[in-house]
Amino acid sequence: MMRTVVVVGALVLGIGAVAAQQDQVKQTQDMMKGNGKNAGALAAMVKGEKPYDQAAVNAALAQFEDTIKKFPTLFPDSTKGLKPEGDYFPSPKVWEDRAGFDEHIASFAKAVADAKGKITDLDTLKATLPTIGKQCGGCHETYRVKNS
Ligand code: HEC
Repeated sequence: MMRTVVVVGALVLGIGAVAAQQDQVKQTQDMMKGNGKNAGALAAMVKGEKPYDQAAVNAALAQFEDTIKKFPTLFPDSTKGLKPEGDYFPSPKVWEDRAGFDEHIASFAKAVADAKGKITDLDTLKATLPTIGKQCGGCHETYRVKNS
């Protein structure tokens, strides 16, 4: 009897842990979607589809900074190999080459820090956005996989 209780307890805990991991993955995706939305808004200004908007620029940079702060904790060992729903999932390389991943975080952080305070109008946005975009693409190329 005691044994059964322990086993059931372990099962319930196991399920709870999986749910927590799925939650974590979902949070990561939502955050990345926010990055995508912000980057898209900046790109629309560069293309002239939207007027230059300093508040939106500042909000985007602030969100990128927030992402950078959270990055190191977003991919705990417990979520390795989980294939979340959605368009993308992290490559196993995030866990297998953590040092390389951390380097990408660091260079993204540097690009965002450099951009801060420098973007004050459309011209400076045009000059700066590619250096940030390169960081997004550079990390995705290796560490993000498209769900097929
Ligand atoms: C240090 C690496 C790294 C950097 C830098 C980075 N990303 Fe990502 N991004 C990832 C990984 C890993 C995923 C896959 C996460 C997942 O789906 O769980 C991802 C997923 C995404 C997604 C897809 C989310 C979804 O599931 O629909 C978008 C959009 C995105 N990133 C936008 C951006 C933008 C825009 C930038 C730059 C401003 C950026 N990312 C910078 C690693 C990075």
